Amino acid sequence: MCGIIGIASNKPVSINIINSLKKLEYRGYDSAGLATLTNKNINEKKCIGRVEELEKILFKTPREGNIGIGHVRWATHGVPNIVNAHPHSTDQVSVVHNGIIENSDELKKELENKGLKFKSQTDTEVITLLISEALKEHDPLNSVFKTLKKLKGSFALGILFKNFSDIIIGARRGSPLAVGYSKDENYLGSDSYALKSMTNKISYLDDGDVCVISKDEVKFYDVSLKKINKKTHILSEDENIADKGEYKNFMSKEIFEQPITAKNCVNEYIDSLKKDINIYNFPIEPTNINKIVLIGCGTAYHSCLVAKYWLEELTTIDIEIDIASEFRYRKLKFNQKNLYIFLSQSGETADTAAALDICKKNKVKTCSIVNVVESTIARNSDWVLPIHAGPEIGVASTKAFIGQLLVLFILSLKLAKIRGDINKNVYEDNIKNLIKIPEAIEESLKSENNIQLVAKEFLNAKGSMFLGRGSSFPIALEGALKLKELSYLHAEGYPAGEMKHGPLALIEEGLPVIVIAPKDKYFEKTLSNMQEVIARGGKIIFITDNKKMIANDNIRFGLRVPFLNNILSPILLTAPLQLLAYHVALLKNCDIDKPRNLAKSVTVE
Ligand code: G6P
Repeated sequence: MCGIIGIASNKPVSINIINSLKKLEYRGYDSAGLATLTNKNINEKKCIGRVEELEKILFKTPREGNIGIGHVRWATHGVPNIVNAHPHSTDQVSVVHNGIIENSDELKKELENKGLKFKSQTDTEVITLLISEALKEHDPLNSVFKTLKKLKGSFALGILFKNFSDIIIGARRGSPLAVGYSKDENYLGSDSYALKSMTNKISYLDDGDVCVISKDEVKFYDVSLKKINKKTHILSEDENIADKGEYKNFMSKEIFEQPITAKNCVNEYIDSLKKDINIYNFPIEPTNINKIVLIGCGTAYHSCLVAKYWLEELTTIDIEIDIASEFRYRKLKFNQKNLYIFLSQSGETADTAAALDICKKNKVKTCSIVNVVESTIARNSDWVLPIHAGPEIGVASTKAFIGQLLVLFILSLKLAKIRGDINKNVYEDNIKNLIKIPEAIEESLKSENNIQLVAKEFLNAKGSMFLGRGSSFPIALEGALKLKELSYLHAEGYPAGEMKHGPLALIEEGLPVIVIAPKDKYFEKTLSNMQEVIARGGKIIFITDNKKMIANDNIRFGLRVPFLNNILSPILLTAPLQLLAYHVALLKNCDIDKPRNLAKSVTVE
């Protein structure tokens, strides 16, 4: 998704803008640009595609300047082309923008009626022209405030002024924005990750805040133009942050570091000596919880689905789950005894953040399970449970999914214990198995060689299906999501028992069908559903944790993952599906870390 960077310094900034834009690449984007100021001239450079292209353009025609803004754009209004790429400049200002201006059509008409001309198809240009108009009568800060009052939607802005060559103004409404501090240099960034290579001292803007950044100081204002102070956070040192090491891409690195990240997570939450879980300070006393509502998007939503099965199995709590973009528009009956849990790797997903805001407005207790503890969602929730997965750069989520599942399982277990829903033996047995999980994930990753063979079966396929029952159903959904995200091959995840109600019509000779069948209470039923597929010519790839592979001549490939106990099987069944998507995409020469049209952090609705 779009990313913003701004630097005010006492030395040339364009190289650092380029380097920071490269850090923002993981978010997913389709064009890039920057603007610097030299002798009261706005120098704009833009490109389609990668930041590398921008770097080449800059190398050919260098334009220096000690102040500048940069942007990676993920197209919303208008196709990805040079004209629509940011910054959008007039002879007075240059603007970079994340988010969407919902009333841009209306504002555009007003400006056109005044005789102003638009160059691009973007909503952003409205902001550029409004500020330029306001500057005829006001100073930069008041021009921005006047403009902000007219805008509807959610956004983050970085603004450079031709005649006020020592400042960048930033503004936040809905989309995240951070400020960084250093000696003789200050920064603006759409996330702290982009600023990490330059500083670890950060402040976050809250909704409605505006900041004025110069090389020597940063001033903050609230929505009523009152000067305010902001807390400074010192960012934690993350190792392995942006280094692919021996791996071809971040995704393979992230898949293969899952045994380590799972171990980190388990070590954070499990006290192996006391055979207990270190989770305290519940926002609602667990015995008083009436219902748990789990909310997320994409992969994080699939974690919610798995957790539904776990919480229902282990506790007596009523469970509801929803996709954040649906939840936020429902007519809900909020209850003070319900706990609302938000799942988000980035902690910045716009729909999830908005769903959380609705809960806050309704004064109910919220918990977030996030990877980025400095994120908006984490900062806005009553209670935060980090997943300790370390930075995830590949757009398709892998190690964060495993981290989310681990935290959800650990939380379910702890709730069950405090509420007296399970006995001590079951509790301790599950803790023992959790400690074995990292090693078991490592074992399940050994299926890679076989999966490379399976991947070839997908090369000429028209589509594919992933089937599972019980907690393997969300794993089927996640397997299908990974395959479509990475390889652009149509994939459907389905509850195996639902096939006969429609999707069976899709089965034809040779269609690859992945059957996820752990040896649980559904095993025999899943086998029957598989027979229905075989009878119609589907090519079966069978994944199980059953000690013996079932004998069936119609199974094209059989893959086995380790078994710890039935309830933990979703975690171990995941790795082969991640590897499958990865290898199909590799064979098809797809951009593994940055699949087309997708973004890592979806900060628009
Ligand atoms: C995007 C990413 C997905 C992710 C989803 C939710 O669509 O490409 O991988 O699952 O957002 O993101 P979150 O950061 O909230 O978990």
